Amino acid sequence: MPVVGLGVWRMEGKEIRDLVINALNLGYRHFDCAGVGRTGSALDEDGVLEIDTTISLETTWHAREELVSMGLVRSIGNSNYDICLTRDCLAYSKVKPAVNQTETHPYFQRESLVKFCQKHGICVTAHTPLGGAVANSEWFGSVSCLDDPVLKNLAEKYKKTAAQVVLRWGIKRNTVVIPKTSKLERLKENFPVLTLSSPKRTWT
Ligand SMILES: NC(=O)c1ccc[n+]([C@@H]2O[C@H](COP(=O)([O-])OP(=O)(O)OC[C@H]3O[C@@H](n4cnc5c(N)ncnc54)[C@H](OP(=O)(O)O)[C@@H]3O)[C@@H](O)[C@H]2O)c1
Repeated sequence: MPVVGLGVWRMEGKEIRDLVINALNLGYRHFDCAGVGRTGSALDEDGVLEIDTTISLETTWHAREELVSMGLVRSIGNSNYDICLTRDCLAYSKVKPAVNQTETHPYFQRESLVKFCQKHGICVTAHTPLGGAVANSEWFGSVSCLDDPVLKNLAEKYKKTAAQVVLRWGIKRNTVVIPKTSKLERLKENFPVLTLSSPKRTWT
């Protein structure tokens, strides 16, 4: 799987089309389509999550395994599975999960989950790899990850941007990163983090 992908959550219509075409031209080959298209609200009238409690996650996993045996998909995985859910899935699965896409970035490193997945051969895809935008400021404070003074100093030291430092850090810990951007210049900035070298020091 390409280690740098493009997340397109919260984008719509022509905006996504133009962005994906620009991304393909730049060399992106991994697109995370979470949230594309209409998925109805998961809340009921009282504002409480409305989830079908008659179907277990194991049942849904076996349904996905069927898709693999029918040749309709190549790999199956999970999203936002913590260690307990991942351990359970490993226990009941015949086709092992290829990926766990989960939130992780410098402000939310989740070492034990990341290492547990990797130890069991599950690739961790880091969603929200830049620390997210507005939504995450409630959790991590008013300073966004990319404005963090430590990261800004590192960026200055290595002649990179803070986003490039953060994405490179994600790749170095063997996670796949899927930063979202709606801006062409940031598409260019976020992609070449594997090959960038600093004037003073090469990324190793
Ligand atoms: N599975 C899940 O539950 C789940 C949950 C959340 C997200 N995701 C996936 O993960 C993807 C990324 O997550 P995310 O969008 O929440 O957060 P993110 O990628 O960590 O951050 C996106 C924010 O960073 C800005 N940004 C992007 N590149 C930048 C750069 N080089 N310099 C400064 N700012 C930059 C973007 O603004 P601009 O657009 O203005 O550039 C946007 O506000 C989503 O698109 C989605 O595909 C999955």
